[in-house]
Amino acid sequence: MAIKLKGTGRALPDRVVTNEELVALVDTSDEWIRERTGIGSRHVSTGETVADLAVAAAKKALEDAGATGDEVELILVASCSSEMALPCVACQVQSAIGAHKAVAFDLNAACSGFLFAMHTADAYMASGIYHNALVIGAEVLSKIVNWEDRGTCILFGDGAGAAYFAKDPESQTPLPYVQRSDGTKGQVLACGQHAHKNAFYEGEDNLQYVTMDGREVFRFATRQVPEAILELLGKTALEPDDIDCYVLHQANRRIIESIAKRLQVDIAKFPSNVERVGNTSSASIPILLDELRKEGRIKPGMKVVLSGFGAGLTYGACLLELS
Ligand code: UT7
Repeated sequence: MAIKLKGTGRALPDRVVTNEELVALVDTSDEWIRERTGIGSRHVSTGETVADLAVAAAKKALEDAGATGDEVELILVASCSSEMALPCVACQVQSAIGAHKAVAFDLNAACSGFLFAMHTADAYMASGIYHNALVIGAEVLSKIVNWEDRGTCILFGDGAGAAYFAKDPESQTPLPYVQRSDGTKGQVLACGQHAHKNAFYEGEDNLQYVTMDGREVFRFATRQVPEAILELLGKTALEPDDIDCYVLHQANRRIIESIAKRLQVDIAKFPSNVERVGNTSSASIPILLDELRKEGRIKPGMKVVLSGFGAGLTYGACLLELS
């Protein structure tokens, strides 16, 4: 494989919001949220921006890899919630870590964003264009969520995760990947933040929040993700049980359980932090990846499947062999 995972890092806002605190905002209960989602609490920004969290996670990933900013050749940030339209978050990270020779840009594929960014980095490295990449997922979803909508505000959290990859000089082979988008289902999970406002527009400033057809997203994830993982494994000689660990987008415990069941793999191979972190969209996979590496639950020699799914609709899976 063309790329090796060298280091990971994560950053979460200090403020933890429990389900009990949400009961004061919307008609819900700790019991309902835990039963339907597996979520008990989430980290919520009290001022930290997407760039603040991305920079903090990036610094930790570089430190973990024993690398410095001036070595970095490519910075990709996956995010759908940056406060700044310009400059992109990746350029803000570049400046903060002193990665003066890096090329930096953002990419938005919602909850599949980290995976799609990783695939992009992998393709650049396999083709020899860049020799390393810092890939980050960072979100402050708390500001695009309607805190009066019990169907969505209970799900999401803020945070960032980062991974530093280096090219394997002996390999040109890209990672096995499955990557898909279905734009016809865009309205199932949407957010129109700056829908229409210019000097000639006379309507209202229609700032919008996240809207979601939860059941439809649930059906999509539980159908498409196992199929994508089986298609991925079909590109290799591996069976679902040969995989040591499945690092899935942390949207909902029931979705993860359903995917494990469809694949007929022990749920113990599907670690989850959704109880403490909630759904952090593009940040969820790298945050969990970092937790698992730091806890020694994933180690060199292991085969790890990463899989993301979300708005777009977008979804995908890839196989990472740790060395
Ligand atoms: O990254 C991808 C992001 N999106 C997702 O992961 C969403 C995937 N979908 C889901 O996780 C689930 O669909 C939800 C957790 C969002 C909802 O669970 P559900 O089992 O599909 O519930 P539902 O939407 O079918 O609603 C069942 C009932 C409704 O009441 P009625 O109509 O039966 O009286 C809802 O109004 O639960 C009600 N409800 C709530 N009750 C208490 C909806 N949200 C809440 C709430 N607290 N927070």
